[in-house]
Amino acid sequence: MLQPNNLLIPSITFIFWSSWTLINGAVSEPQANLLSTGCSPSIDQFVVTNFSIFSENVNRTFRHIREQISNNSKHFATAQRPSVENSVFALFQCRNYISIHDCVVCFDAAAKQVHKCAAGTQGGRAVYDGCFLRYN
Ligand SMILES: *[C@@H]1O[C@H](CO)[C@@H](O)[C@H](O)[C@H]1NC(C)=O
Ligand SMILES: *[C@@H]1O[C@H](CO)[C@@H](O)[C@H](O)[C@H]1NC(C)=O
Repeated sequence: MLQPNNLLIPSITFIFWSSWTLINGAVSEPQANLLSTGCSPSIDQFVVTNFSIFSENVNRTFRHIREQISNNSKHFATAQRPSVENSVFALFQCRNYISIHDCVVCFDAAAKQVHKCAAGTQGGRAVYDGCFLRYN
């Protein structure tokens, strides 16, 4: 389940980026400098009951997000695997002035980073200069 305080940070980040982007010109680099990252501990046994299923759901949502960016030229994408147990909700955004190629590069860096969240955690986030990714 998403906690209210977990939702606040991406919302603020989104608003910040949306306005920040307006005063900045085009930049051609993925801006994949890691600013912040973390994993959410699984404190509620009902959130994740089977980590192999959960991991597969995480991977499916990440594949879906990557497809949306690269095939549909999106700078913002969400994906989900809703179910009774082991549901995954993932959200990704890159700054809208970076190229789709750089957006995908930043996504790949973020996905690799949050994959470091070991089995036993129920979420992760990674914030870069150019993009952020989170899942729960
Ligand atoms: C998790 O699910 C997989 C696939 O359905 C199953 O093979 C495995 O035994 C389950 N693990 C646990 C700990 O329930
Ligand atoms: C999900 O992807 C990661 C990174 O590619 C991989 O290590 C892991 O085994 C995958 N999980 C499943 C259940 O396929």
